[in-house]
Amino acid sequence: LSTIDLDLEGIEVGTRITLTWRGKPLFVDHRTQEQIALARADDGADLIDPALDSERAQRPEWLVVIGVCTHLGCVPLGQNSSEPLGDWKGWFCPCHGSHYDTAGRIRKGPAPRNLDLPPYEFVTNSWLRIG
Ligand code: FES
Repeated sequence: LSTIDLDLEGIEVGTRITLTWRGKPLFVDHRTQEQIALARADDGADLIDPALDSERAQRPEWLVVIGVCTHLGCVPLGQNSSEPLGDWKGWFCPCHGSHYDTAGRIRKGPAPRNLDLPPYEFVTNSWLRIG
């Protein structure tokens, strides 16, 4: 399917879910206030691929990214609570050690770009359309 409608109702704060979109993993992260604050605090940091958190997340509570490391395409860890989040508490790619922050921005390691953003829109307060 090229378009996915996702009901956000019932996805609790602090929960990350993984979907498949156009054959790729897609991460939907219902961010906590702490995760949002961490991302925003680093808006002015020396970023490899500069982007503001507000440019990454249409709504601060929801981060939607393609779950493919921009180095060589592994799937970063961090979607399950048992997995490492990396040094910036976002995602960690174990293949060659790329660390992403809570906005999905690359912070350390060989990945050249932030995790890609899919096209998406909030159809209503609780419905997300991806694609
Ligand atoms: Fe992720 Fe190389 S594929 S660090």
